[in-house]
Amino acid sequence: MDTVGFTTVMARVPSPVTVVTTYGSDGTPYGFTAGSFCSASLEPPLVLVCLDKGASTHPAFSTARRFLVNVLGRGQQHVARRFAASGVDRFAAGDMRPMELGLPGLPEASARIACSLHSVLDAGDHTALLGRVEQAFTGDRTPLVHVDRFFHRPAPESRSRPPMQERAFPLIYAERVGATAEFYELLGFTRQRQNPPEGDPAYIALRRGPAELAVVRADWPHTRYGVPPGPGPRFEMFVLVDDLDVTLKQLADAKVPLLRAPADLPWGERVAYVADPDGNPVAVACAIHS
Ligand SMILES: Cc1cc2nc3c(=O)[nH]c(=O)nc-3n(C[C@H](O)[C@H](O)[C@H](O)COP(=O)(O)O)c2cc1C
Repeated sequence: MDTVGFTTVMARVPSPVTVVTTYGSDGTPYGFTAGSFCSASLEPPLVLVCLDKGASTHPAFSTARRFLVNVLGRGQQHVARRFAASGVDRFAAGDMRPMELGLPGLPEASARIACSLHSVLDAGDHTALLGRVEQAFTGDRTPLVHVDRFFHRPAPESRSRPPMQERAFPLIYAERVGATAEFYELLGFTRQRQNPPEGDPAYIALRRGPAELAVVRADWPHTRYGVPPGPGPRFEMFVLVDDLDVTLKQLADAKVPLLRAPADLPWGERVAYVADPDGNPVAVACAIHS
């Protein structure tokens, strides 16, 4: 299995979003964003997190006596991004305070799990840090999950779709229905169903949380209603994403043309325009984080 295949399939596996912190022997705080956190043993209570051997924080964590796992919650994506950024002072924002075992913690975290270092295991290009849980805090904030390369807020399946009378969705006329559905998959949508189920699709329904759309063949109005599409374009798709730079990189890797570079707009959104497979402009935007 090559690296691209491995990371593509693992992107399908939801992971928690945590920031793991510790202090160096000289009192310097260290922290990194980790999705590899999970429980490992009940008796004794052990948890596990994997850290890249090449990470700047690796020497501090592999020798630390204690570490604190901050489970990030709703609205804390910016903390995850900061603790994943290289070459910056991740603690400069001042949002970490001494918490369980005196370690740097996020007061508003969804949960915190303070550990003593139980053992350090070799795990390929990563080191697995096994921690014995010493103290824990369970907050009220809904935890974030990371899946399909986006941050999400989990919702129970039964509540993830609004009631029928609150739903509305566009049908996008496309020359290449499959390629257009793949384009929206890059933006975090997942296929719900397609017609016909096998072979060349005429209709593909996609969903991303409560947002819905369907892609249909461009001759749809003609074959179904006997009329051509109206004379002018009817709408432009505007898709909000969690991290515009990461999304644009993924779109560039998939050879999606960039029509307009990202720009910060006065109402607090950072917006770029890309072309869908038929060349239509699609806005991709995220909130501007301070
Ligand atoms: C959502 C997310 C999950 C991550 N999970 C891990 C992880 O489990 N282990 C890890 O070593 N790095 C993980 N990283 C990357 C690190 O946070 C960090 O970017 C990396 O250690 C490079 O840091 P450095 O500049 O200190 O070397 C993750 C990043 C993100 C955005």
